[in-house]
Amino acid sequence: MELTVWSKSAQETNLWGQRLGSLLCGGDVVCLAGDLGSGKTALAQGAGRALKVTVPMTSPTFTLIQEYYCESGGKELHLVHMDLYRLQEPEEIEVIGVMDYFREETICLIEWPEIALDYLPDDILEVRIEGNGEMPRKITFRSWGGDWGERFRGLKIET
Ligand SMILES: Nc1ncnc2c1ncn2[C@@H]1O[C@H](COP(=O)(O)OP(=O)(O)OP(=O)(O)O)[C@@H](O)[C@H]1O
Ligand SMILES: [Mg+2]
Repeated sequence: MELTVWSKSAQETNLWGQRLGSLLCGGDVVCLAGDLGSGKTALAQGAGRALKVTVPMTSPTFTLIQEYYCESGGKELHLVHMDLYRLQEPEEIEVIGVMDYFREETICLIEWPEIALDYLPDDILEVRIEGNGEMPRKITFRSWGGDWGERFRGLKIET
């Protein structure tokens, strides 16, 4: 599955995050890739909004991992928002326990996921955001497994 959309503002990126959030359920792992300042956190905040996170979601740049309560399909779940930018070696993924969050009651959103490549499940959704500054953003949703194609069709977006 591959879907490309465009965003002309942080607000529009947040809305794409909300649409994505409305599709997410427990066990999902979403990788948010893209340049510095491309809008990964803005998109994650939109997803959190759709998942009924009630506290402000701030960037996990320094905390690396932030966990929130959320809700999807009437179920109480955890939303885990990570930012792996500051990691230096793939082994640190094990040290900070990233894989512990790949579980049924948790939805994971991972910024700067590249260093964790060898540790990720097969059925991730990749969201890649290209562009920064005042440029429009190109947002590409891509998957290689799972039922992401079906879920995105449910959004009825013209592609
Ligand atoms: N179309 C757009 N989509 C998203 N953000 C935009 C857009 N246009 C401008 N911006 C601005 O770009 C910045 C994006 O910041 P954000 O923290 O979401 O990026 P990020 O990809 O998470 O960065 P980092 O790699 O540092 O974590 C914000 O200041 C936002 O207002
Ligand atoms: Mg960020």
